[in-house]
Amino acid sequence: MAQSSRTVKVDALQPGMTIEEVTELSFDYASLDEDNLKFLKSTFKGAAGVLVGENGTRTVPVEELKAFDPLQRITDVPPSLKAAKVVPGLAEFLERNGLLVFKVIEAQGAGPAVRTEPKGVPAPDQLAVGSAEAKKRHEIKREEVKQFLDTVATAAQSRDQSTTIVEEMLDSGRTGQFSSKGVESMVDEIIKQGAAPAMKAIAGLRASDQTYAHCTDMSVILEEVYVEILQRSGKTPSDVNRRFALVSGFLHDIGKSEVPKDILDSRERFAPDSQEMIIMRNHTTYGARILTEMGMPEVTINMAHYHHVKKDSTLLSSYPDVDYGNVLTLTRLASITDVYQALIGRRRYKKNWVPGKAVEYLLSLKGSEFDERMLDNFIEIIGRYPVGSLVRLSNDDLAFVLSIAPKEHQDRPVVAVVENAAGELLTSHSLLDLMLEPDLRVGEVVNHYEHYNESEDQAYRIFASIRVS
Ligand SMILES: [Fe+2]
Ligand SMILES: [Fe+2]
Repeated sequence: MAQSSRTVKVDALQPGMTIEEVTELSFDYASLDEDNLKFLKSTFKGAAGVLVGENGTRTVPVEELKAFDPLQRITDVPPSLKAAKVVPGLAEFLERNGLLVFKVIEAQGAGPAVRTEPKGVPAPDQLAVGSAEAKKRHEIKREEVKQFLDTVATAAQSRDQSTTIVEEMLDSGRTGQFSSKGVESMVDEIIKQGAAPAMKAIAGLRASDQTYAHCTDMSVILEEVYVEILQRSGKTPSDVNRRFALVSGFLHDIGKSEVPKDILDSRERFAPDSQEMIIMRNHTTYGARILTEMGMPEVTINMAHYHHVKKDSTLLSSYPDVDYGNVLTLTRLASITDVYQALIGRRRYKKNWVPGKAVEYLLSLKGSEFDERMLDNFIEIIGRYPVGSLVRLSNDDLAFVLSIAPKEHQDRPVVAVVENAAGELLTSHSLLDLMLEPDLRVGEVVNHYEHYNESEDQAYRIFASIRVS
């Protein structure tokens, strides 16, 4: 019988198909760890791993894969494995282990694909407003929020320091000497202090005229989302994972050190085909070259090189000109974070978007610019009202979000009311978990830069003054 080859998602695998290649792996392979390696080496013995590198792809036997290798796909599945063919239950096993899309061959005329085992219907929502589960959740959240608030002041300092360090590093690079030492010890300090969550909140709350505040803010958002995704896939993220994301994020725009300052700092909008724009776009290739010379890991280089490549790489806004297949999963997440930060970030001369609007914008680019699965993860984790958002509640009180709501109750985060409906600033704050308040919910997002006195950094100062007993 004639055979044909096609690409299928894991839930469309059918008995009778033969797997030739694994073309997409889940996000936890972004930092190939001991568990991934153990699974691959036992399940795909004899196959080959395709690694993405600066000089194109490189193929190594699966047995020789090492932790943090930039694995793109698994190919050359040996005849002994192919002979096993797809059997009922195999798809679930593969999906559980993070293998998502496959190139398969199947006998022609085998009929339409029908699942042999129905996929489980998602469990009904257990977390009802005011329920015992919601109360239990509240106790955990309360402790988390208290710890979070204790780190806000230090986090603000860390943000300023990090930005200065990135800036100094790039300035020293302009004179020909790069070293990542400053950035790496800063990252160690952020991890030690557990400052990343508060730094992430401040990122949307506080304007900065420093060009490289973007790198700091983008990197802490990236780290937070990355760690959460790992946790959701059943991993316990290590400091190595955190470090990896933070360092890569801090350095993703390092190539801007080779862009002349007058172009970099210009407030002019350059035409897409202007000389200035061409130079600006080169920051990605410059960055990849600098990081390669510094001996940084492949994933860090990939992020600097490809964070502007769109899923549809024919789009004018996509650069450099490479296939999306070369863009590693962590870089795909970084490109979403990069755009998100650019939208919510505030400079004195640039309007910002409130996070909720930025999220809507990202969603509109889902199929064309971003990896869909990565974007879904990002939005779910960031939440519709991210921590640090100023919101008007349904009773007209104004509150800051301190912990995001469960997925199915987006308008019920944990908040602290800072101003009452009459417009009076409150000096003592209490924690309000909207999951326990049936009559109260978020009404709308308020742009804190417009509502409070921006030049006095009032929004941040109020946020930093929140204390709950
Ligand atoms: Fe960039
Ligand atoms: Fe960037």
